Amino acid sequence: MVTRRQFASGAAGAAALVCLGRAGIQSTHSKPLPPATPLGHSRPVSAKLIAAERPYALGGVGGRPLPMWTFDDGTWPMTIRLNVGDRLDASFENRLPRPDQMASIHWHGIRLPNAQDGVPYLVQTPLRPGETFDYSFVVPDTGTFFFHTHCNSAEQLGRGLMGVLIVDGDVTEPYDADHMLVLRDWHVDAAASEFTAFMTLRGAGRAGTFGTLRTVNAASDPEILLPAVADCRLRLLNADTTRIMQIAIDGADSAIVAVDGVAVPPTPLTTWTLGPAMRIDLVLRTRHPRAVARLVDRANGERIELARFVATGAPRRRGRFEPAPLRAGRIAEPDLRSATRMAFAFHTTESGSAVAAVEGAGGGPLGPLCTSTRLFWGINDRSWPERGHDRLPPPLATLERGRSYVFHLKNRTPFAHPIHIHGHTFKLLRSTKQKRLVHYADTLLLLPDEEADVAFVADNPGDWMLHCHIIEHQETGMMGYLRVV
Ligand code: C2O
Ligand code: CU
Repeated sequence: MVTRRQFASGAAGAAALVCLGRAGIQSTHSKPLPPATPLGHSRPVSAKLIAAERPYALGGVGGRPLPMWTFDDGTWPMTIRLNVGDRLDASFENRLPRPDQMASIHWHGIRLPNAQDGVPYLVQTPLRPGETFDYSFVVPDTGTFFFHTHCNSAEQLGRGLMGVLIVDGDVTEPYDADHMLVLRDWHVDAAASEFTAFMTLRGAGRAGTFGTLRTVNAASDPEILLPAVADCRLRLLNADTTRIMQIAIDGADSAIVAVDGVAVPPTPLTTWTLGPAMRIDLVLRTRHPRAVARLVDRANGERIELARFVATGAPRRRGRFEPAPLRAGRIAEPDLRSATRMAFAFHTTESGSAVAAVEGAGGGPLGPLCTSTRLFWGINDRSWPERGHDRLPPPLATLERGRSYVFHLKNRTPFAHPIHIHGHTFKLLRSTKQKRLVHYADTLLLLPDEEADVAFVADNPGDWMLHCHIIEHQETGMMGYLRVV
């Protein structure tokens, strides 16, 4: 949530954003965002992703290596960086150590052609160990994204099988620093340097199975050096499979400048709820040399310190904190008057309610279609993959290409769900529980019993997943797909 607190220079009432709810969340940045960079000719950028087990020592597990699954030998996670409009040519090879570990790569938040979306069975046959596949697509949007496998995700993501994708071209005036911060909570037994259960029945039927080791960029409470008295861009990604974080910065002023890669007018940060797969870009104004600011998680009334920012060197800036905005996104604006309305309810199944009421242990076995065999959750009375696994269930809805839609999302459970749509980006219109600025998102957090309206133009043809990004919920039924024709 963001409060009314304004930048020193901001004029009251000059909000560029519509307010949500009574609290009036607003940016005080009064000018419209500068327009998106035009897409040039697509420069090819190649990347090689080899999914394999590689020993990797997280800072905080006594330096002993864990049997992580990663895409390359460098630092975790692998990072691909390119300019908006570039074409990514990514060759992928599955070298995972177990024959049942099928894999494909989903490029989370990237509005790409359906055949490149990496969803097993729906758009491609997942790769068995030893097989290769070439992805190739133009990146149409700037911002902070990531990629991950989409099969047996509790374990594959649990062991680290993801990477960061940064698309440049959104900066208007250079910031003084630009840091990627990957927030993760690992399922490890710190003493033994082993992974613990990535999925449990108890967790899958409730809020998920939480990890035991919080890290930022694979280190526990790292110290990150930033220039003093400087405007520093921080790209935050919640790369966890389960944990919802309440992000705040102590000891410095900061502003949100993008949500899920899409620019918002700079808006002072008090806290922001960041569920799995969600991103925010912040600009933080550091203080005098040696001043320390902290990245904290305030979820559940706690205060967990995630990272320390230490200001260093000669001061870079003078004057008030008025962070430069990013360039606007290029998401098509939905036409709310002509939009078709549809409702999607997220709920438990009978066995899900039962499991939430009892103690359980052990995850379900890995079933076909890359998910668990247990079904605890559903969308509109259906649970993925639903029935006989030799054919796909029908879509949750069929949408007309080019038409605007308003989805009424209803969380009928006592747990929060970060709801992710593939191939499109939602515009948040209103919500019954959270007061947030109007923004675009590919993953929207629904709090317990919350209802929210989101709108978008169904402008990307194909079959697109709609699912919860708490991986244990996704793998036990809270997934379906939309067909855009
Ligand atoms: Cu990041 Cu279908 O997922
Ligand atoms: Cu969920």
